[in-house]
Amino acid sequence: FAEYVVIGNPIAHSKSPDIHTRFAADTAQDLRYGRLLAPLDGFVAAVQEFVAQGGKGANVTVPFKLEAYALATTLTTRAKAAGAVNTLKFDGGGMLGDNTDGIGLVTDIARNAGFDLEGKKILLLGAGGAARGVILPLLESHPAQLVIANRTPAKALELVQQFQPFAEQCALSACGFADVQQQFDLVINATSASLQADVPPIAPQVFGVATLAYDMMYGKQPTVFMQFAAAHGAQVRDGLGMLVEQAAESFFVWRGVRPRTDAVFVSLRTQLS
Ligand code: ATR
Repeated sequence: FAEYVVIGNPIAHSKSPDIHTRFAADTAQDLRYGRLLAPLDGFVAAVQEFVAQGGKGANVTVPFKLEAYALATTLTTRAKAAGAVNTLKFDGGGMLGDNTDGIGLVTDIARNAGFDLEGKKILLLGAGGAARGVILPLLESHPAQLVIANRTPAKALELVQQFQPFAEQCALSACGFADVQQQFDLVINATSASLQADVPPIAPQVFGVATLAYDMMYGKQPTVFMQFAAAHGAQVRDGLGMLVEQAAESFFVWRGVRPRTDAVFVSLRTQLS
């Protein structure tokens, strides 16, 4: 069988082995998927050892996505745009670096939540690695407008400058949280504020009854961002579906087969509660 791992630090909490083991059973793929804890200063050595033992691919998580980007010998367009790699594929001495986070988000929103992004007004909160990773797939879904708002507005502006060439018909702009006043169809929280039980300070009028408020984080309870959005009438969704869909895309990159995701999603949700 082929060997895959998720590499991170910490890694014990990762749901990726559960997800990929279920995908493998569902698609009758002969593979094994485990967890690999790399020392904070030992990511490259851990990958090299895994490859030497015959490893075929890896998911990469916190804090190694930038090191994986630097290590890859070939990068996909979406990995280059994200500036980070969450999927490595080892093949004949080469290392393909890909990033499936953004397509995972878009698939969860468009297919699982049934929300068509074309022509929509999108507010993206945050300008760190998580935000950068989803901008290209969002633009490729042809929204009418994409506003990137961040606590540090200069970082949002840098992203706008980077992605302007891909914006085509989409109005792409940057601002601070206090500058956001209009209503949006979709508001995505890509800040890490939820980790501190914090909500980015945005005006409640960004939410309407048809607005989808999406938090890239997930947990047993709705995040504070979701609670804030729901209290102002929005529809809410957490990032559990994104987790499953990015995994499915990685599985496809490695195996060329698309696993079904709905049953895995339901089972993860049940485990959380
Ligand atoms: P990640 O990989 O999760 O994106 P990151 O690159 O460190 O992590 O980026 C964190 C993002 O969350 C940034 O946009 C950060 O805002 P700044 O650029 O101003 O630092 C944002 N963030 C973190 N804590 C926040 C908080 N309490 N309120 C609002 N935004 C926050």
